[in-house]
Amino acid sequence: MMLMKHIILSPKEFLGHPPGNYADPAKNKHCAEFEVDLYIVSEFVLEKIIPLVGIHPYPLNELLLMVSSVCWFKPTHIFEWGTHVGKSARIFYETCRSFSLPVEIHSTDLPDNADHCEHPHRNRGIMVQGLPGVCLYQGDGLDASMKKYREFVQRGMVCRPFFYIDGDHEYQSVKRELLGVLQEIPSAALLLHDTFHQSAGSGYNIGPYRAIKDVLSLLPDQYEVISTQEGLPGMTFLYRAGGD
Ligand SMILES: C[S@@+](CC[C@H](N)C(=O)[O-])C[C@H]1O[C@@H](n2cnc3c(N)ncnc32)[C@H](O)[C@@H]1O
Repeated sequence: MMLMKHIILSPKEFLGHPPGNYADPAKNKHCAEFEVDLYIVSEFVLEKIIPLVGIHPYPLNELLLMVSSVCWFKPTHIFEWGTHVGKSARIFYETCRSFSLPVEIHSTDLPDNADHCEHPHRNRGIMVQGLPGVCLYQGDGLDASMKKYREFVQRGMVCRPFFYIDGDHEYQSVKRELLGVLQEIPSAALLLHDTFHQSAGSGYNIGPYRAIKDVLSLLPDQYEVISTQEGLPGMTFLYRAGGD
């Protein structure tokens, strides 16, 4: 008879690495293509991210892409919308802390009186409330983020921006947001949520997928695309081809 061996980890062992103690997973940075050490990223996601945020709304493959894209691109600033309860902002915060990346996170959600079915109201940003380096705003995500970005540039700050777009998932909104960023900052990296593609029989909203496709057709060969395409909700990372 085969004996089942159960390994029970103490909380200390399970949360193995203290913050800032993970090796840089970015690989072959002198080469043209995106590459990370997925074992390092997986270990981090299991140890630090899953206990904090679980797998909703981001399943494992999306958590891996969120962490990997930030570690690989090494932004100075992350601009994201919508904040909602702050899960994505918290994932970015923990990533930057654990991989020793000095990054400011600027997260925007709509004003409290906005009529949006997903608006979090009093729970806005609760998962990042008071965390150092995380700033919360209310307004339109693109407008508020670009205003902040321009302020930093005018003040002469080094700014290597990474945008996370997770607001209204309608075709027109995502197209406006994507174009709004890329026309002003062609070197920006962008991560977008709810980008899964399925044919019409599914009845899914494929607005974000179509918006990305249409915007990229206006900018041929300029961006590399990495998408999770195994199932909903779907996430897509865009970065400038050939480095910047
Ligand atoms: C799916 S939730 C975002 C989830 C969030 N990223 C997280 O990980 O917790 C969508 C959010 O986008 C907000 N939103 C919708 N349109 C927006 C806009 N134009 N600007 C900023 N936020 C927007 C909604 O109020 C809602 O809180």
